[in-house]
Amino acid sequence: MRLDKLLANMGYGSRKEVKELCKKKKVTLNGTYVKDASQHIDPITDHIQVNGGTVSYKPYVYIMLNKPKGVISATEDIQDKTVVDLLQLDIQQYNPFPVGRLDKDTEGLLLLTNDGELAHVLTSPKKKIEKTYFAKIEGFVTEEDITKFASGVVLDDGYETKPGKLVVKKEGEISEVELTITEGKFHQVKRMFKSVGKKVVYLKRIRMGMLELDNSLRLGDYRELTNNEVNALRQKNN
Ligand code: URA
Repeated sequence: MRLDKLLANMGYGSRKEVKELCKKKKVTLNGTYVKDASQHIDPITDHIQVNGGTVSYKPYVYIMLNKPKGVISATEDIQDKTVVDLLQLDIQQYNPFPVGRLDKDTEGLLLLTNDGELAHVLTSPKKKIEKTYFAKIEGFVTEEDITKFASGVVLDDGYETKPGKLVVKKEGEISEVELTITEGKFHQVKRMFKSVGKKVVYLKRIRMGMLELDNSLRLGDYRELTNNEVNALRQKNN
């Protein structure tokens, strides 16, 4: 990464101002004054100081995105816009990737990070991390559906799901429900409802492990997780 870009992103001024700082011998790289502000550095192994103070670069970034419809949960795609395309360049430079996947037409909570270890834990089937979805379903959701989901249903490919907790929030021609599951099979929520003859017409993830979707985030908006949120995700899952 370019040194001027790193320092500018970390709030040491514009790239031009960083260049000035270097000219004034205010910036050192591994103990040597920096002459060329555009030189490439390794933010993790190189030791950078500005005005004698060490620049501590954070290696990881943790982003909560309120995913809108129409974007895909991938880092790149030749056809569609991806969730990474929604992030500003200062976040993209950390090379974050989505933790798990939401369908193109699913909205809601998506965590993006470059912390492979945490991502692995959160997506490992063994860890049984709970994911809660808010869904709108065509038709009435019955007590029988709730009971079936509670003991696991058989999907179209013969897979028997782990138990899911189904709560009806609003009854009607279009029912509103919350479903909590601990797996992440392809189109799982849609296929679980299909197994009881029902169709999901709207789907949004609202919780993953200890992490709840921040309701103040509009669709397409994101924010970094707080330290407490990152720690809660780590502790709960270790
Ligand atoms: N289940 C689905 O069917 N789709 C999603 O995007 C997530 C869970």
